[in-house]
Amino acid sequence: MKVLITGGAGYIGTHTALVLLQNGMDVVVVDDLSEGSAEGIRRVQDLAARQVRLVVTDLTDAVATELALSGVDFDAVIHLAGVKAVGDSVLHPVRYFRQNLDSLLRPTGHRPHRGHGSGQV
Ligand SMILES: NC(=O)c1ccc[n+]([C@@H]2O[C@H](COP(=O)([O-])OP(=O)(O)OC[C@H]3O[C@@H](n4cnc5c(N)ncnc54)[C@H](O)[C@@H]3O)[C@@H](O)[C@H]2O)c1
Repeated sequence: MKVLITGGAGYIGTHTALVLLQNGMDVVVVDDLSEGSAEGIRRVQDLAARQVRLVVTDLTDAVATELALSGVDFDAVIHLAGVKAVGDSVLHPVRYFRQNLDSLLRPTGHRPHRGHGSGQV
């Protein structure tokens, strides 16, 4: 099974990716690296002795996301991309609302694993 992890370069995403890899699954990470880092993905690869495909894109950008994910197959999505600073979210609630909802709708609008015609999102 191949799992797409949005926000997979972040705190929870890297830990999730490692556990999935250690349990034999393939992992694709989509992240804009605004908070997470490619170094985190490198460490996950080292620990698991497995490769992770890192796709760098802003999930709130529909066009960029469509381009970045074209040709990327996956069976399931774990959605972790988002912004979560409590104080900032109180100051800018609309920005947070948009950012988090838009980044959710992009990957779910992208059909998982075209080969099987169905998937878990
Ligand atoms: N850390 C916790 O204790 C905790 C607890 C409960 C829930 N959560 C939730 O889990 C999710 C992940 O939390 P985390 O602690 O790993 O945060 P994190 O900031 O470490 O990871 C989020 C990742 O999403 C990426 N990202 C943000 N906006 C993006 C966008 N528009 N496009 C692509 N990538 C984007 C960031 O670069 C980052 O790598 C959040 O929704 C958070 O609210 C976290």
